[in-house]
Amino acid sequence: MKKSEMLLFETHAHYDDEQYDGDREELLPLLHESGIAAIVNIACDEESNARAFALAQRYPYVFATVGYHPCDCGGLTDAHFDTMRARAANEKVVAVGEIGLDYHWDDVPRAVQQEMFIRQLDLARDMDLPVVIHSREAAQDTFDILRGHGVGRGVMHCYAYSTEMAREYIKRGYMLGIGGVVTFKNAKTVKAVVEAIPLEHLVLETDSPYLTPSPYRGKRNSSAHLIYVAEAIAKIKGTDVATVCEQTFENALRLYGLDRQRVCGASI
Ligand code: NI
Repeated sequence: MKKSEMLLFETHAHYDDEQYDGDREELLPLLHESGIAAIVNIACDEESNARAFALAQRYPYVFATVGYHPCDCGGLTDAHFDTMRARAANEKVVAVGEIGLDYHWDDVPRAVQQEMFIRQLDLARDMDLPVVIHSREAAQDTFDILRGHGVGRGVMHCYAYSTEMAREYIKRGYMLGIGGVVTFKNAKTVKAVVEAIPLEHLVLETDSPYLTPSPYRGKRNSSAHLIYVAEAIAKIKGTDVATVCEQTFENALRLYGLDRQRVCGASI
């Protein structure tokens, strides 16, 4: 594992995933010791909501979200919303997500996805929490729903749309989540976004265990690879890696409403 002198904030990972069942207990402390000061473990479905919450209670540097991914939002009942609401009141729960629209897989009818997206945005507003947005092949509908029902604080996870739309999002208070894709040679769209959008609006994420950056593409991802994302951003922006780490750390604190003392004070 590459040792980093700099503190990094992992804004989006899935350590509840079964791919970590064999080594989660060794991996999380190791990541933390190597400079990953905080990790937000993102919920997707019923099981991951429970597991993310449990991880956040166990590790001081792990935070959780509550929420149902658009591919997992079919069949949600009032009881699911009651559970989300109860968990969201816990101090280790920092956002509602990942929620949104996914027209690529179309696992859930689009009308249902839209309804559940809006209901979860309403929950975030009620609980005064930011949102983590997943949007795939649904640029305009996502934008329209967020314009009508958005909470004005959140992150566009794995941002992959146009630079023009990115400008609209940052104007409305959203951060752009930049992950391993920015290290891929052919990722022209996201590189153009990173070049055009000021660093004050970007946060680092890996989406572990998915989207492993170069040069480890194809292997299981982990937050140890965040540094490659930071390096790619630094190269595009013509700045140094330390600046990228520090500014995106600050941005992540602002996004999730955390203060540095609380994140770094006790444990680093
Ligand atoms: Ni994710």
